[in-house]
Amino acid sequence: MKVAIVLGTRPEVIKMSPIVRQLEEKGLDFFILHTGQHYSYNLDQVFFEQLRLPQPKYNLKVGSGTHAEETGKMMIGIERVLLEEKPDIVLVEGDTNTVLAGGLAAVKVGVPVGHVEAGLRSFDRSMPEEVNRVVADHISHLLFAPTEKARENLLKEGIGDEKVYVTGNTIVDAVHENLELAKEGGGNNALEGLCVADCEYFLVTVHRQENVDDLRRFKGILDGLNLVQKYFGLPVVYPIHPRSRRRMKEYGLDAGEIALIEPLDYLSFLLLESRAKLVFTDSGGVQEEACILKVPCVTLRDNTERPETIEVGANILAGTDPKNILEKAKLMINSGRMWPNPFGDGRAAERIVDIIGEWLPKKL
Ligand code: UD1
Ligand code: UDP
Repeated sequence: MKVAIVLGTRPEVIKMSPIVRQLEEKGLDFFILHTGQHYSYNLDQVFFEQLRLPQPKYNLKVGSGTHAEETGKMMIGIERVLLEEKPDIVLVEGDTNTVLAGGLAAVKVGVPVGHVEAGLRSFDRSMPEEVNRVVADHISHLLFAPTEKARENLLKEGIGDEKVYVTGNTIVDAVHENLELAKEGGGNNALEGLCVADCEYFLVTVHRQENVDDLRRFKGILDGLNLVQKYFGLPVVYPIHPRSRRRMKEYGLDAGEIALIEPLDYLSFLLLESRAKLVFTDSGGVQEEACILKVPCVTLRDNTERPETIEVGANILAGTDPKNILEKAKLMINSGRMWPNPFGDGRAAERIVDIIGEWLPKKL
């Protein structure tokens, strides 16, 4: 069997890495097709180097643009590669424009699609990620749902039970594979000068379109984080995504007492995250990781497609109102940190590769 892994952004590289490792260990034929949606060194190459992933065989270098520009350019490039390579299956992961383009291009040329992290729903179609998820799920042949709840979402939308496999989320595999390395100091020295081991601090990541492309919401978040800094008297560290950095400049927003730093390599980020007093985020992957690492999370959104984190008591929704952000931080800071991890046992990648191996011969 020949597997095409289509990826293009930071979270996809991280969450696909355990699958790549499994394919390598089992000696299976695969190649990586990178769309180039992310291209800055610290959003892209650093993860290939640190996670010791093979370089992509193809990089379409589509870069940034409007949704249609990104998706359209990707589809044209992906189609060309698929027609030439003729893989037996295309794997996509998550909810980015790369996932939408990879899934659509594949299904149109008759290549089956496996969607890793299928069935997540925020039920908010104003978010580009939700549209991408729904489309990807409905065109996929194999749906790897991380949790039972994700599976139920798919069944409610009429997707056949026989296509859906509950595997756990590969982010657990990635955390298990990398946390010890992070603790042993395997990061890129990016944390020098930050009080990671010797003081208490808060960690922030905010980059989602619905937050940072909206002046009122982005300002609310920054004001809320400054209230948190003042109230608790602890540093707030924000490795800032380039999208957010650009918007701050455009809007003339001031970070106040928040310490802005460059986006971090994976091991440095994991270490910073695992030792944080609280995490504030709008990221999907960071909500999951905080839950797995037993660090309480305040989600700076009005909804989440990761409700499992809230149900186990690891996460709370705060929206973007400054006072509410502070109130939710006060609520979460003394959490018992005893919750179970709802995202699986760290063997999701192994399951996914085994399922593909069993499914493909039946289909061919
Ligand atoms: C994308 C995903 C989002 C995901 C995030 C992961 C979509 C619709 N959004 O958002 O779901 O959470 O990736 O981080 O697919 N930029 C750079 N360097 C890069 C990449 C982007 O400077 O390597 C800047 C550019 O100014 C660009 C902006 O970030 O215009 C947005 O990039 P884009 O890939 O469109 O979306 P993300 O915000 O990264
Ligand atoms: N991450 C990282 N460095 C950073 C910020 C995040 O390595 O400076 C990792 C984080 O550990 C998680 C992933 O990026 O695994 C989440 O990706 P992101 O927040 O960009 O996207 P989302 O999950 O929201 O789609």
